[in-house]
Amino acid sequence: MSGFSINWLDLREPADRAARDHLLAKQLVDYLQADADISPVVVDLGSGTGSTLRALTALGAHQCVWRLVDHDPALLNEALRRHGQQEIIEDYEADLLEIDALPLGAAKLLSASALYDLVSRDVVDGLVERIARQSTALYAALNYDGRTHWSPAHPLDDTVLQAFNLDQQRDKGMGPALGPQSAAYLSTSLESAGYSVQLADSAWHLGPEHALLVADLVSGIKAAVSDNYGLDSQLLDDWKAFRLSHLHDGHCVIGHLDVLAFPEKKSQ
Ligand SMILES: C[S@@+](CC[C@H](N)C(=O)[O-])C[C@H]1O[C@@H](n2cnc3c(N)ncnc32)[C@H](O)[C@@H]1O
Repeated sequence: MSGFSINWLDLREPADRAARDHLLAKQLVDYLQADADISPVVVDLGSGTGSTLRALTALGAHQCVWRLVDHDPALLNEALRRHGQQEIIEDYEADLLEIDALPLGAAKLLSASALYDLVSRDVVDGLVERIARQSTALYAALNYDGRTHWSPAHPLDDTVLQAFNLDQQRDKGMGPALGPQSAAYLSTSLESAGYSVQLADSAWHLGPEHALLVADLVSGIKAAVSDNYGLDSQLLDDWKAFRLSHLHDGHCVIGHLDVLAFPEKKSQ
């Protein structure tokens, strides 16, 4: 799959932080901090530079052992550079497809942000099966759910969105991606394994203050739908130009869902 740059992750992080469902995250932090004598082990899958660590420590997750897992060593190094002095970090350069080899031993929580829409059903089922065996909780924030609403509207918006949502299900190196179905599929898989699951809205609400992020997003969407979906390239150019012309007076909502799951006997 294509890599994720530090710049892109930094660009999206403020929008992600604002979008995360606060009540779910707070409930999770209380769960992690329930026993003051124990340093909970949190395994953050596809950690990038540590956005989940930043979000949860800001809400009071202290004294955690953070096992950051990513296949990109540059992102792990950046996470260590930013947090290695203040937090206990164990960095693991690993492929999350190697589920049995993931360092999940003694983990109280398996966390992730902006990850599950990239993976396949098989990956979700494999991860859920592994954590269920050891009663590890799961927090998956910011799973794209297929909703995108632009203002002002453009006649091509719906066509572009349909193509984009199809593209979100393309295999990006981890099997056919769940894309917009990720939160629903994850919830069902967790419930089948005996978890108590909560879902909450974590949509991005983007306005002129997010102009750089929206510009990247528009370019990314156009690139994703340019081939394979039969869209007229001139119309698509017009759509992109229209969207970019409204960076400073337009708005958009991009739907995400957060998932929080506790093993049944530990539900709160
Ligand atoms: C959309 S980014 C999210 C990063 C971070 N969680 C955040 O919210 O800023 C997806 C992350 O998953 C990692 N990733 C993608 N495929 C992976 C794989 N097969 N094994 C391990 N990590 C992977 C990427 O390197 C990237 O850091």
